[in-house]
Amino acid sequence: MDLTLPDLLRWYLDSGVDETIGDVPVDRFAAPARPAAPSPVPAEVPAGPPPQTGAIPGTAAHIAAECRDLAELRAALEAFDGLPVKRTAMSTVFADGNPEAAVMLIGEAPGQEEDRQGLPFVGKSGKLLDRMLASIGLDRTSAYITNVLPWRPLENRKPTPDEVAICLPFVARHIELVDPKILILLGSASASAILARHEGIGRLRGRWFDYASPGLPRPIPAIATFHPAYLLRTPEAKRGSWRDLLMVKKRLDAAP
Ligand code: URA
Repeated sequence: MDLTLPDLLRWYLDSGVDETIGDVPVDRFAAPARPAAPSPVPAEVPAGPPPQTGAIPGTAAHIAAECRDLAELRAALEAFDGLPVKRTAMSTVFADGNPEAAVMLIGEAPGQEEDRQGLPFVGKSGKLLDRMLASIGLDRTSAYITNVLPWRPLENRKPTPDEVAICLPFVARHIELVDPKILILLGSASASAILARHEGIGRLRGRWFDYASPGLPRPIPAIATFHPAYLLRTPEAKRGSWRDLLMVKKRLDAAP
């Protein structure tokens, strides 16, 4: 039977719905079951993903929030079917490095070599990233590396804002599970998604932000810097990147 508009209105009236209270429908089932954690007082600027509690079953937010450890999160991403870009990728590039490390780096998306090996930052820009880490005394045993998008976009294109937004709950959960002392965001796709800000990387880099999310015991200091691939194309930007890394080193050295 086809339902006409008068049928629908009559059904609403029969159900006791006789008053409109807003112009825009609200999905009450999607509303958070419990309030999000209060926003912490920022060191500089507050940042963080939307709360994940009360998410609709089957959505990335719900799947990610259910993951209790990194193994479950990896398995959840491997099983996730919400993005076409996954179908053309060989690997789900989850992470590399030490999940116990004080520093967590988040890049953009795997390239060809990363897709082939199933590891982040193992191609040309990865080699530069390794040198950048070494310059402040870090390597993959003392840093943990992932990306905002775990699947390689074809032609090495930049991930679209939609792709990043769909994966963001997984990244947010990833950060909660690793709970590093410092977050380094590599490039604009990572920085603007994770800090939830619209400025370009030139404005975001070199400043400390507090990254907060409901599953973290406290906000994490986060800093953005240029993506190594950009530095390969624009060597004159390396000076700024070096300054950002020195800020990280200073903070690490000062940490208890
Ligand atoms: N660029 C990224 O952002 N991530 C990688 O893993 C490789 C290149």
